[in-house]
Formats: sequence, C-alpha cells, structure tokens
Amino acid sequence: MSTIASNFKVTKVSESRLTEVDLKNIPFGRVFTDHMFIAHYAEGQWKDMEIKKLENFSLHPSNLALHYGQSIFEGMKASKNEKGNPLLFRPDEHIKRLNRSAERMCMPLFPEDVFVEALTELVKIDKDWIPDHPGSSLYIRPLMFATDEFLGVAPSETFIFVILLLPVGPYYDKPVKLIADPTYVRAVKGGTGEAKTAGNYAASLYPSKVAKENGFDQILWLDGVEKKFVQEVGTMNIFFVFDDRIVTPKADGAILKGITRKSFIELLKDKGFIVEERPVEIQEVMDKGKSGELKEVFGSGTAAVATTITQINYLDQVIKFDPDKAEIAPWLKENIEDMRNGRKKDPYGWVLEVM
Ligand code: COI
Repeated sequence: MSTIASNFKVTKVSESRLTEVDLKNIPFGRVFTDHMFIAHYAEGQWKDMEIKKLENFSLHPSNLALHYGQSIFEGMKASKNEKGNPLLFRPDEHIKRLNRSAERMCMPLFPEDVFVEALTELVKIDKDWIPDHPGSSLYIRPLMFATDEFLGVAPSETFIFVILLLPVGPYYDKPVKLIADPTYVRAVKGGTGEAKTAGNYAASLYPSKVAKENGFDQILWLDGVEKKFVQEVGTMNIFFVFDDRIVTPKADGAILKGITRKSFIELLKDKGFIVEERPVEIQEVMDKGKSGELKEVFGSGTAAVATTITQINYLDQVIKFDPDKAEIAPWLKENIEDMRNGRKKDPYGWVLEVM
C-alpha cells in the first residue's frame, strides 16, 4: 500500500544520447538510457519522486550502504511489440521480490502501484532505446540503498530508490562451463541467499575469479553445510533434464527465487513435462551425467535467459554436454523471448503493454 500521492515530477533531457549508441552492438551493463526514476525515503515515507536525467549521486564517505552493504536490487526486462509499444515482463513479481529483499535487509517497502506507474512512465520516455534485434532487450535495474551518514552497524533511516534502464545484448554469448567447488559457499539457510542483495554478489567475486583462472565461466554453488546439494549459479538458477523429468533445486531459503525460474517451471509443466523442485545432490548429477541419463543442463535468469551448460567439474569428475544437442533450453529461450516481445500470445498475463 501507498501512503503517498504517486504523482511525480518529470524533467526530460533536451538532447538524447541515443544518437551516440549502436543498439545492434551493446555490451551488457555498460550503456544506460537518458533518464532515471529516483525516490527518497526519510521520516518514514517515500518522497521527492521524479524522473530526470541519469546523473551521478553525491554521497558522504560514511554512507552506510558503502560500509555495511545495505543495498538491494532487481533485474527485469522489457521489449517492444510490433506496434512499437514497450512490453514489461512480470513487473508485479519483481516488485514483490524487491520488497521481500527489503524486509530481509531492514529496508522500507516500496509501494507496488507506484513502482509500476514510475516504471511505465520511465520506459515510455526512453522507449526509443529498446533494441529490437534478436537476443537484445531493455534491462531494468531497480536499486535501493541506504543513505544514512553513520559509522555503526544499524539499519539506515534514509534510503534512495532508483530505476535505471540499459539496452542490452545477451549476458552470456556462448554456452558455459561450471565448477562445483566445495571450497567456497555462497549462502546458507538463514542467511541472505534468497534476497537480491549486493553482498551475495560481492561474496561470489573471489571464488568466481579463481574458477575463471582455472578455465570455468561460473561456479555451481553447493549448500553451505554438507557441501553436497546443488544450489544455483549466482547469476542464474539451474535445471537438469533427466530422462523423464526436469529437476531444479528446491528454493530452500538459500537460493534466489528466480522469476525466470518460476516462469520456466510453468512453461515446462504446461508443455507436459514432469518438473520437480527438490534437493539435488551433486553426486546424482555427476552419476547421471556419466550414465547418460542426464541429457541437458541449463541456467535460467533475467540476464542469462536460458543458458546451456556444456561442462560440470566436481572434485576429479567431469561431465560434458554437446550444446548442439540441447533442446529444452533453446525451446524455453525462444518461447520466453517471443512472449516478451509480443510475437507469441501470452496466456499467463505476464506481459504488461505500455501504451
Ligand atoms: C539478473 O539476471 O537480472 C541478475 O541480476 C543477475 C546479474 C548477473 C545480472
């Protein structure tokens, strides 16, 4: 619920930077549109909301988010339909997840209705930035962070919420190799693994660097206690296609509840597949990979969409998959992208058209 009037000021740039950008050739995460939405939280309410030119913040060096990591975000996508209207993918789910992260991190909830209104307006203003060549889209990054100027481990009382827009190409431009390395852990039950909070990503940087030095693209995280059960990849959730069923680790509090994951489960079930959300032992994966019962492995995520996995290493065991034989991940990718850009009818009510 909202305790504020949701009318906000809109100030548009006089000249767009779009003329300097080649929308057919954009690296992920480096190119931003002209405008952002910004709101400030103080004295128990969100206020000073506006859409304005994307610009730098000025922060005090004691900013609490910089020191203690009170920061959360979302990642969602928009595309354009044939009429040129932006289509937002599951904005309701994203703001709900942001608010679940906010609760876990002692941050204020952002009103769902204001979020959808602000995002709709922002995307409308910057709609010429939405790329339309295959595999590309507009990535949407809502971000909330603490702004108290205070050196002490306590929840902030002031916050900024912003929404940034970025035209993007694919996050992974090739199938990926994973290592399940029990040396490091991403999250434990009772920790912050289910929240989309900055610290989870910071904690993954060193192990990921080591994995990359050893020739892998990402880590397949194992549970933090027994180091036995598969969790997720950090940039995506994970699915295993066993002979007659598709299995993904159960969201047990230490795994991010991916919205793409949830959408894929629904698409697969509607297509007639048996989908199981259950604990998955890494040894089961390796054994079934070796016996041939494991046909395909893929990751799911807003940025990653459906990414084929070609190799998993665990201790001294290796299993490999021929990416040309992958069937489920390409099918899911095509379906979700077609739905996202309006080429395929959306029977689920996942897509919100911005007129
Ligand atoms: C997303 O998929 O939106 C994420 O936030 C993951 C990140 C690797 C870009």
